[in-house]
Amino acid sequence: MSYTIKSNTYLIEIGDLEDSSFQDFMEQKYVNSRKIIVVDENTNEYCLEYLLTSFDFLKEAEIILIPEGEDSKVLDLCAQIWDTWTDYHIERKDVVINLGGGIVSDVGGFAASIYKRGIDFINVPTTLLAMVDASIGGKTGVDLGKFKNQLGVFTDPQRVFVDLAFLQTLPVGEVYNGFAEMLKHGLIVNAKHWEELSVLNEVEQEITIEHIYTSLSIKNGIILEDPFESGLRKKLNFGHTIGHALEGHFAEKDPISHGYAVALGVLAESFISFKKNFITLSELNDIERVLLSNYECIDLSGENLNEIYQLMLNDKKNVQQKILCVLLIGIGECVIDQEISEQEIVESLEYLNRLHQEEKNAHEN
Ligand SMILES: NC(=O)c1ccc[n+]([C@@H]2O[C@H](COP(=O)([O-])OP(=O)(O)OC[C@H]3O[C@@H](n4cnc5c(N)ncnc54)[C@H](O)[C@@H]3O)[C@@H](O)[C@H]2O)c1
Repeated sequence: MSYTIKSNTYLIEIGDLEDSSFQDFMEQKYVNSRKIIVVDENTNEYCLEYLLTSFDFLKEAEIILIPEGEDSKVLDLCAQIWDTWTDYHIERKDVVINLGGGIVSDVGGFAASIYKRGIDFINVPTTLLAMVDASIGGKTGVDLGKFKNQLGVFTDPQRVFVDLAFLQTLPVGEVYNGFAEMLKHGLIVNAKHWEELSVLNEVEQEITIEHIYTSLSIKNGIILEDPFESGLRKKLNFGHTIGHALEGHFAEKDPISHGYAVALGVLAESFISFKKNFITLSELNDIERVLLSNYECIDLSGENLNEIYQLMLNDKKNVQQKILCVLLIGIGECVIDQEISEQEIVESLEYLNRLHQEEKNAHEN
C-alpha cells in the first residue's frame, strides 16, 4: 500500500522507501551532486544502515551526526554544520537528506536553507511526529534560549518520503508524541479522524498507514490554503500556545517532549474553549477522556503559573502584546486569532493541575 500527496512545490510519498521514487528521483535530479545525510545519534544507530545498504548511490554520502534532543536545535550547532560543509566544499547543487525526527528536519532543513543562500534538502522522517507533521510544511528553524522556533525560515523540501518501517525501533513514548499532533488534526478540522483515533488502545500497534495518510492530508490541505501562516494555517497551532510555554518552562529543569507538551496544550486550550462557551461540557469531557487515556497529566503544584504565562507573551502568534490562540468551536472545528486573558490561561493551568491531582487520587484509592 502506498500513497502520494501533492504539496505546494513537492510530493510526499508514503510507503516502502525501496518501492518509492526515491532512487529514480535522486539519480535523475542529483546525479552529479554530493549527498549529505543528517542524522542524530539514534537515527545513526537505527536508520542509517538501512538507507546505506539499500541505495548504492548513497555509498559516498557525507554523514553529519548531531546529538539527539532539543538541545541540538540551536544556532551554534548550525554554525558547526556550516563549517563542516565549507570544509567539505559543499556546493549549491548538492543535496541534504534529513534522516530523523523533527529535530533533524528542523535543524538540517534550516542549515540547508541558509547555506550559500539555500541548497536542496529531502526529508525522510523517522518519528511519528515528523511523519505526520514536522517533515512537511516548509517550516525550518531553531530555538533561542527558552523560546521555541524563534529563528527560522520557510523553505520547502524537494520531496518527503514517509516509510513506516522506521517506526519499528521508535520508543513507545515517542509514538505518543506524534499521536498528540494526530489527535490535534482531528480536533481542528476532521471529526471522523478524531473518532477513529479515539478508539485506539495501543497506538504503537494499531496505528496504520491510512491514519498517517489522513493526518498528512489534513496538514497538507491547510498548508496549501495558507503556506506562510497569514491566516488559516494558524489552525495547526491549536494546543501550541500553552504547549510551547510549558515546554519552555520545563526546558532547563525537567524537559518535557514537544508532543507531550502539545497534548497538555490541547487539554488546556480545550478547557478555555469550554469556558468561553465555544464547546459543550460533553465535548470537553470527550477530549479529556481520550487525552487522559493516552497521557498522564502534569503536576504543576510547585510551579509559578505566572512564569508560564509570561512565556506566552513572546509567542509569535501574538499581535500588539495580545495573546492570540486557536480555540475549538466543536469537535472537528476551530477558530483562529482568539484573544485569551491572563486569567483564562492561569485557570487552564489550574485545570491541568486539578486533572493531575484527580489521577493521583484515583491511583491511590
Ligand atoms: N517544522 C515543523 O513544522 C515542526 C512541526 C512539529 C514539530 N516540530 C519540531 O520537531 C521537534 C520534535 O520532533 P520529534 O518528536 O520527532 O523529536 P526528535 O527528533 O527529538 O526524535 C525523538 C527521539 O527519537 C529518536 N529517534 C528518531 N527516529 C528514531 C527511530 N526510527 N528509532 C529510534 N529512535 C529514533 C531521536 O533520536 C530522539 O531521541 C521539536 O523541536 C518541534 O518543535 C517542527
